[in-house]
Amino acid sequence: MSDEPVMRTQVGIVGAGPAGLVLAHLLHLRGIDAVVLESRDRDYLEHRVRAGVLEQATVNLLKEMGVSERLEREALVHHGLELRFGGRRHRIALDELTGGRTITIYGQQEVVKDLIAARANAGAPLLFEVEDVRLEGVDSARPVLRFRHHGEQRELRCEAIAGCDGFHGICRDAVPSDVLTVHERVYPYAWLGILAEVAPSSDELIYCQHERGFALHSLRSPQLTRLYLQCDPGDRIESWPDQRIWDELHTRFACDGWELHEGPIVERGITPMRSFVAGPMQHGRLYLAGDAVHIVPATGAKGLNLAVADVRVLAAGLVRWFDEDDRSLLDAYSETCLRRVWRTQYFSWWMTTMLHRAPDDRDRFQANLQRAQLDYVTSSPAAATSLAENYVGFEHDVSERIV
Ligand code: APR
Ligand code: PHB
Repeated sequence: MSDEPVMRTQVGIVGAGPAGLVLAHLLHLRGIDAVVLESRDRDYLEHRVRAGVLEQATVNLLKEMGVSERLEREALVHHGLELRFGGRRHRIALDELTGGRTITIYGQQEVVKDLIAARANAGAPLLFEVEDVRLEGVDSARPVLRFRHHGEQRELRCEAIAGCDGFHGICRDAVPSDVLTVHERVYPYAWLGILAEVAPSSDELIYCQHERGFALHSLRSPQLTRLYLQCDPGDRIESWPDQRIWDELHTRFACDGWELHEGPIVERGITPMRSFVAGPMQHGRLYLAGDAVHIVPATGAKGLNLAVADVRVLAAGLVRWFDEDDRSLLDAYSETCLRRVWRTQYFSWWMTTMLHRAPDDRDRFQANLQRAQLDYVTSSPAAATSLAENYVGFEHDVSERIV
């Protein structure tokens, strides 16, 4: 990219998370110019531990985009998951219930690594460590991104801007407050997540409901286990020494004939649980995607997948506009995406409330409902199918292939 203080591109993309990077590559494959601006450095993005479950449609898209070579070699394909409650194990056969669909375990930072490499190989602009990004003129025909890079003030003139800068980004604020409606639920619990250097104790994910709170067994590789515990949102990580974490995990996962393997904890953190939707997802020539406009509680494993689904719709709309001067898909962007967003919010809320302990449940009303719900899901093929088809995810909302 030129070092001139004023640059031009077709699409200015703020944020190099999964949303920004998938969008940039989809546009690149269709010959549309984009510049990606990212506030962090490359190393940070490539090592930030986030979610790790890819829906079938996400994997299919990454394959179609030609960025799945390592994924196909290293990722783990899962055909089922386990629900554990009352000290008993119940398998949900995802593939059998959904006509052969599966989920794929591959860490988000691995997806990000592959996409950054694809962008670098294409020689396409991706600027790390940009500072002080500002949006101007989003409701005009000439939106501009101003920012600082290596100490220099720069200006990027765009035809459209994609706000892919996550929940704490700045793009959402460019939509006037009387236009943007926010819907939010903050749950009275959080997740304490750890990454442990030890072989997983199960080949499949375990979602565990227990009277002391939810626990989740996941994995990243044959040598790396990812575990989560429901905790109080006010908890500090310092009040969870290793032994307390392992004791609590052993208690919640306890069941006959199964053992949890312990290993050195190499990463840990506490994440609040929230549902958040802001709409419309577009204003003038600004299009918001991914965590910038919606957060789902992690119980459904949907955050990354939803971000990818958004930008697939956005890319199709931008291609139609630039190639055919037809804005119809782009004008419908927000409406198209919000249908999937709300359906996914519902599923994520449903999984979350089924599995977590409600802290103020004095008469155990909630606990009894949860037990009834879990009994139903694990005994009725219709209920199990509903969980399975939502968990593996639905097809994307655009029919045409991008590549
Ligand atoms: N300027 C430039 N970049 C910014 C700015 C800013 N002002 N603010 C944030 N960013 C960058 C962040 O550093 C981050 O790399 O935007 C990126 C946003 O990426 P994500 O937070 O990963 O969001 P998204 O791409 O929407 O990915 C979907 O869903 O549940 C989650 O874990 C899942 O992170 C995944 C997300
Ligand atoms: C993860 O592996 O990080 C993970 C898996 C399933 C979830 C959430 C996170 O529901």
